[in-house]
Amino acid sequence: MAASSYFLLAVSRALAASQAIASDPSPLQDFCVADKYSPVKVNGFVCKDPMAVNADDFFKAANLDKPRNTMGSKVGSNVTLINVMQLPGLNTLGISLAALTMHP
Ligand SMILES: *[C@@H]1O[C@H](CO)[C@@H](O)[C@H](O)[C@H]1NC(C)=O
Repeated sequence: MAASSYFLLAVSRALAASQAIASDPSPLQDFCVADKYSPVKVNGFVCKDPMAVNADDFFKAANLDKPRNTMGSKVGSNVTLINVMQLPGLNTLGISLAALTMHP
């Protein structure tokens, strides 16, 4: 009796676990452009007023395809970072980018 109860409990738990949904919650808004000058201090950046958002918030002419100058680096490399500080439209998206130029 105890063995069959244990088996039923294990089966029901396995079925419950197979139906678990594991994903990030959907964002509450379509975009949240970082307001880097907001006096409000939060972990990250607060959203800029949607009426003040413009196309430049989503564009960065970084020329990442061009090699960078590595002469100023002791290790012969130059890293170009693109994150929310350079591209405010990346705020809350969890996306950043780095391009590395290594001296031959
Ligand atoms: C990286 O490259 C940029 C553009 O070529 C240059 O302005 C900058 O000084 C370089 N940094 C280093 C550490 O060499």
